Amino acid sequence: MSLLFLAPELNARSWVKHLRRQDPDLDLRIWPDAGPPDEVLFVLSWKHPLGVMKQFPRLKCIASLGFGVDHILRDPDLPTGVPVTRIVDAAMVAAMSTYVLTAVLTHTRQFDHYRQDQTRKTWKPRTPKQPSDVRVGVMGLGHLGLDAARMLRALDFQVFGWSRTAKSIEGVTSFSGDEGLADFLSRSDILICLLPLTPATHGILNRQTLSKLPAGAYLINVARGEHLVEEDLLAAVEGGRLAGACLDVFRQEPLPESHPFWCHPQVTVTPHVASLTYPKDVAPQIIANYHRVRAGQPPQQVVDLKRGY
Ligand code: NAP
Ligand code: GLV
Repeated sequence: MSLLFLAPELNARSWVKHLRRQDPDLDLRIWPDAGPPDEVLFVLSWKHPLGVMKQFPRLKCIASLGFGVDHILRDPDLPTGVPVTRIVDAAMVAAMSTYVLTAVLTHTRQFDHYRQDQTRKTWKPRTPKQPSDVRVGVMGLGHLGLDAARMLRALDFQVFGWSRTAKSIEGVTSFSGDEGLADFLSRSDILICLLPLTPATHGILNRQTLSKLPAGAYLINVARGEHLVEEDLLAAVEGGRLAGACLDVFRQEPLPESHPFWCHPQVTVTPHVASLTYPKDVAPQIIANYHRVRAGQPPQQVVDLKRGY
């Protein structure tokens, strides 16, 4: 029974090498050469074409190649009863935290302004706010948000967190649920989105929520493009309510050439690279799950399909 690599946008080469390194006898198929559909046991997916999964009658696991599973759950034709798993990897958690810290420090230490000053050969010292005077709000306190919150705390920022269920994290003031959102937002001089994309979080960064941030707040979105209503952010920045944003994810990726974010002086764009999946790091957990499923055991890192993450 085979493992099918079903990630049309990605180059399979490195995946093949590292998956085979874990299991030299692996029956590995690369989409679209899936072979006989009833031989596919396990699919490794990143943005698979909608509707393809239902053609595999003996499928026992759909594994996301990344932390998020929204790209799998958006498929209205997923076979019922097949578990969906995701990656959890310490190196990816650390990479996300370094991205977030870079974005926070670039903003608070005003590097964007100094870069502009440099082009004009202008010597203009600015006194930065000290971290203890900056309130950072982290939306989502899961694997990624929790680590980023702790790192920010270690640098002495005031850290606030928001999640679905209440948390108790040393040094982090925690808010939860719809009832805690407005208070959380009103304390976020810098707002970082690290939520999963679900029906409940789709479009959560919108005119109404952005208007609850303190004047001059800064947004960092490293979760999914669909969390943000992009026109509402542009209006808030251009109206002077927000100082700007650092965005790694977008409604349409690659970001279209005509998109106003590209040339906006207060918006930093990176091409969905905050935390990349390295095949060499995650192949062991994928192959371990494949072996479990082949042995009739439930896979690990299964997501809750009802919650959507
Ligand atoms: P996770 O471990 O599943 O944690 C999700 C967190 O969000 C939890 O704290 C959860 O609350 C909270 N949450 C979910 N729905 C909520 C809601 N409706 N209201 C309030 N809080 C809610 O997720 P993760 O592993 O940290 O990953 C988060 C996301 O980051 C991924 O889904 C992916 O989209 C994105 N990501 C982006 C990149 C990139 O390169 N840009 C890389 C990796 C991941 P509870 O704790 O109460 O359940
Ligand atoms: C990347 O966006 C991931 O979900 O791992």
